[in-house]
Amino acid sequence: MNYKVTLLPGDGIGPEVTEAAVKVMQQAADKFGITLDLNEQLMGGCSYEEYGVPITNETIEVCKRSNAVFLGAVGGPKWENLEHHLKPEAALLKLRKSLGLYTNIRPAKVYSSFLDASSLKNDVLEGTDFVVIRELTGGIYFGEPRGMDNDKGWNTMIYSKAEIERIARQAFEIAQGRDKKVISVDKANVLEVSQYWRNIVHEVAKDYPDVELSDMYVDNAAMQIVRNPKQFDVILTGNLFGDIISDIAGMITGSLGMLPSASLGSDHSLYEPVHGSAPDIAGQNKANPIAAIASVAMMFDYTFNMHHVSRVIETSIEKTLQAGYKTVDISTDVGKVVSTNEITETILNKCEEMYNKEADVQIG
Ligand code: NAD
Ligand code: IPM
Ligand code: MN
Repeated sequence: MNYKVTLLPGDGIGPEVTEAAVKVMQQAADKFGITLDLNEQLMGGCSYEEYGVPITNETIEVCKRSNAVFLGAVGGPKWENLEHHLKPEAALLKLRKSLGLYTNIRPAKVYSSFLDASSLKNDVLEGTDFVVIRELTGGIYFGEPRGMDNDKGWNTMIYSKAEIERIARQAFEIAQGRDKKVISVDKANVLEVSQYWRNIVHEVAKDYPDVELSDMYVDNAAMQIVRNPKQFDVILTGNLFGDIISDIAGMITGSLGMLPSASLGSDHSLYEPVHGSAPDIAGQNKANPIAAIASVAMMFDYTFNMHHVSRVIETSIEKTLQAGYKTVDISTDVGKVVSTNEITETILNKCEEMYNKEADVQIG
């Protein structure tokens, strides 16, 4: 088997966590006789420096021709004041839209050995395991008209029936493989677009009678995630609310540095950590590579259909944390702070042990 993977390391800690991710990807490929055709491209501030745009059309075409894309992170203070369409973040939006990646899957699972890393109490957290299904190519991120002049700035939040239907189906189908509970998060008490969203989600729900659907306003959802995160199984929401909710989920799991994501469309897939380019710690070999490595696990799950590899990677992360390794972003009393390289090597060693002894893999 031969897979083409485009790598977009990006800016800040992006290249550091991508390097870690590639090691884990390559190790699994070598073990299972897969040839990875890795093609690295510039995207974000680094692309702006080289080409004057944060992503070139050619890079988008390369991504389209690959089986999967891996992104580190983009952005940083140096490019914050550029015109809107030249900002590194605009490149990510353009890429998501061009590849039709409308489903963003952001799992929030608490690693049992890391309950202390969260700012929440252990008994609130224990057993938390939910997933945010965020619509990624519509809503206020892309709605027209948009703009600003001297007196005002404006954006448009718009969702079509087709856009809501397809993301709702994804959420219901994912829920069928989990605890069969979807909570749709919106702001229907204020926004027409949210009332419309709610109506369509309920229509779609009729095709999934085995899944329980309820609605929650986004402000309440933000509070409930911190109050009682165990109540959630699948959170279905739009682009903007999903962005915010998934960072909140990051903190309940202990650190944003541990949250992976998959962005899927009908023809393409992109894997990226939920966190950004963390300019404050870039270039210091301090970044937590777990979100990036867990995104590789999702790549093996969703694009390569090699679920056993995904389980090995996830279990190796868990075992590494259990062994007391952590990076600076994780605030527990126990364990020892190590570098990006050291924690990556430990995860690689655990993977190696498990590939050599598959029986050790925990299914789940
Ligand atoms: P951020 O996620 O980069 O950082 C927030 C805080 O979390 C920082 O203190 C950072 O040090 C820490 N952090 C994040 N990831 C970490 C990791 N892997 N290991 C250790 N610590 C980690 O968010 P921000 O500061 O709001 O944004 C910085 C830049 O990143 C901005 O330009 C923003 O637009 C961009 N951004 C990019 C993406 C992306 O490329 N997918 C996502 C979010 C933000
Ligand atoms: C994310 C990021 C992006 C988003 C930015 C960088 C465009 O915050 O992936 O969560 O808002 O979607
Ligand atoms: Mn975000």
